[in-house]
Amino acid sequence: MTWNNIQKNVKDGVATVTINRPKALNALNYDTLKEMLHCFEEIGASRDIHAVIITGSGEKAFVAGADISFMGDFEAIEAREFGKLGHQVMAVVENLPQPVIAAVNGFALGGGCELALACDMRLASENAKFGQPEVNLGVLPGFGGTQRLPRLVGKGHAAELLFSGKIIDAEEACRIGLVNRVTAPEKLLEECSALAEMIAVKAPVAVRLCKEAVNNGLEMDLTRGCGYEADLFGICFASKDQKEGMKAFLEKRSPQFAGK
Ligand code: CAA
Repeated sequence: MTWNNIQKNVKDGVATVTINRPKALNALNYDTLKEMLHCFEEIGASRDIHAVIITGSGEKAFVAGADISFMGDFEAIEAREFGKLGHQVMAVVENLPQPVIAAVNGFALGGGCELALACDMRLASENAKFGQPEVNLGVLPGFGGTQRLPRLVGKGHAAELLFSGKIIDAEEACRIGLVNRVTAPEKLLEECSALAEMIAVKAPVAVRLCKEAVNNGLEMDLTRGCGYEADLFGICFASKDQKEGMKAFLEKRSPQFAGK
């Protein structure tokens, strides 16, 4: 399937989704969000995709936010519907069974920062810039920023970004834990691909359950979270991958995982 505002490429079990509206710095309008929803649902249903990279087209932006020209004249009900669509997309990204890496290659502002926050991991190029500048526009973040940012970086750092609308560079984003690491711009996709490929050859059932344990466990207290982990640990023993992984170790060879 081809889309007008995004591209999807799949290679060696890794899907790369590129938001492709460079003239608007990849801003998210209704059509783009709808295409993303469809694309990520398709990826989520695939048993052959084991990791996902999301990036932006061009050298300047990951995603510069929700599309301001599209939103400017909204009535309240339209704005609410648009916000709900954005939330739906972020939830689909967050809950994809496969791990998702944001390759942040420039501005990640507003809805762009929120898209990066919905991913499991964020790698940034040295020219990346992060922020939730919505307060400059008379609104608050509408695609989950007030919720996911404090959960990731803590209330104090999140409050500073959310209330001031300030934009920070990649180095500061790394310092506060908003990104995993920073690379030279020309190395970003290479680094993300290397990480995605490292994940893609691991036991798929275990990786998917691991993501479930992290995401759902964060909503639980430690005792329940550990109980949940024990349940998922048990489920792994119903998979062929567990038999193969442990047998291969004992036979001193590389495992051949079937994802079952
Ligand atoms: N929506 C629509 N168009 C956008 C856009 C956005 N979020 N961000 C950039 N663009 C467009 C610009 O309008 C411009 O278009 P034209 O060439 O047709 O004029 C083009 O992209 C290039 O942008 P600039 O000329 O502004 O480039 P710059 O290098 O001077 O500045 C920038 C770059 C600092 C990112 C600046 O474009 C900017 O501040 N963009 C808006 C960032 C923002 O406020 N994002 C939050 C949006 S609201 C939101 O996301 C709400 C939510 O949570 C859901």
